[in-house]
Amino acid sequence: TTGTIAEFIIYVNLLTWPVAALGWTSSLVQRAEASQARINEFLDEKTNIVSRRDEAKEITGDIVFDHVTFTYPDTGITALHDVSFRLRPGHTLAIIGNTGSGKSTVAALLCRLYDVTSGDIRIDGTDVRDYALTSLREQIGYVPQDVFLFSDSIRNNINFGLDQPDEARMQQAAKDADVYDNIIRFPEGFDTRVGERGITLSGGQKQRVSMARALVKEPKILILDDSLSAVDTKTENVILGALQRVMKGRTSLLISHRVSSVKLADEILVLDDGRIVQHGTHAALMAEAGGLYRALYERQLQAEEA
Ligand SMILES: Nc1ncnc2c1ncn2[C@@H]1O[C@H](COP(=O)(O)OP(=O)(O)OP(=O)(O)O)[C@@H](O)[C@H]1O
Ligand SMILES: [Mg+2]
Repeated sequence: TTGTIAEFIIYVNLLTWPVAALGWTSSLVQRAEASQARINEFLDEKTNIVSRRDEAKEITGDIVFDHVTFTYPDTGITALHDVSFRLRPGHTLAIIGNTGSGKSTVAALLCRLYDVTSGDIRIDGTDVRDYALTSLREQIGYVPQDVFLFSDSIRNNINFGLDQPDEARMQQAAKDADVYDNIIRFPEGFDTRVGERGITLSGGQKQRVSMARALVKEPKILILDDSLSAVDTKTENVILGALQRVMKGRTSLLISHRVSSVKLADEILVLDDGRIVQHGTHAALMAEAGGLYRALYERQLQAEEA
């Protein structure tokens, strides 16, 4: 009858929506499942840098590299061969050498971004592998060679990682890194945003903001990896002068390829192809006539005059 047909059509119409909705929800669920699987993959990623004993003591900064050899696991490049030195608390050790000689690798191993292939690295007599990672890294102010700034205010970039940011401390850190005057001349001062949707800092300004970030932690150990490479020699001298005060009583590792940056250090290591080829003060190394240090010095002097 007509009534049955009409009834049938109405029921079919009523059914289409739920069926379509069912299809739609199941596709949503499937997509969510796939995303969750990818997120889990990331969350399950374990770092192979784990502490053996979770020591969390306060360090004074007595650093020993004891016959350290290191091969990058992914490329198989041996970046350091049998490197040994001692850096006493409060002293400044500079590392100089040609590009690729292994300078940054020394810094990376000290912060324990990698574990040594053989040999030991000890801080205050304790192997770095025995420190709790957070405790170790909290006490090291590391200015990496590749500066990384967040798309955020300068204030948040400097105070990054601090539990209780302090205005005066932040300003002092900016002054010590010789970037304070630059910052306060920006329209919004320390609240100026950098990066995307913000202003673009020059290479030298980025390096100095990154340096302020390390200094504000008031770390026991300070590592500057080529942190003055983007500033001219005049600014370099200003910063080095300011750093003299900051470095006093702080163990510092100063990495550079410029003789002008390293000459004031207590001791200088000259690396060549992952090996220590010279070790001494500026004066002592200059006296070694056939040495790499002297050659670097003369090459750079000529470049400056040119
Ligand atoms: N993350 C890495 N993975 C694999 N190999 C690396 C890595 N970083 C550096 N190397 C290799 O290790 C060697 C030493 O590099 P390193 O960065 O320590 O040199 P550097 O002295 O800091 O050079 P530069 O003056 O250019 O900064 C190089 O041969 C380099 O190719
Ligand atoms: Mg380097």
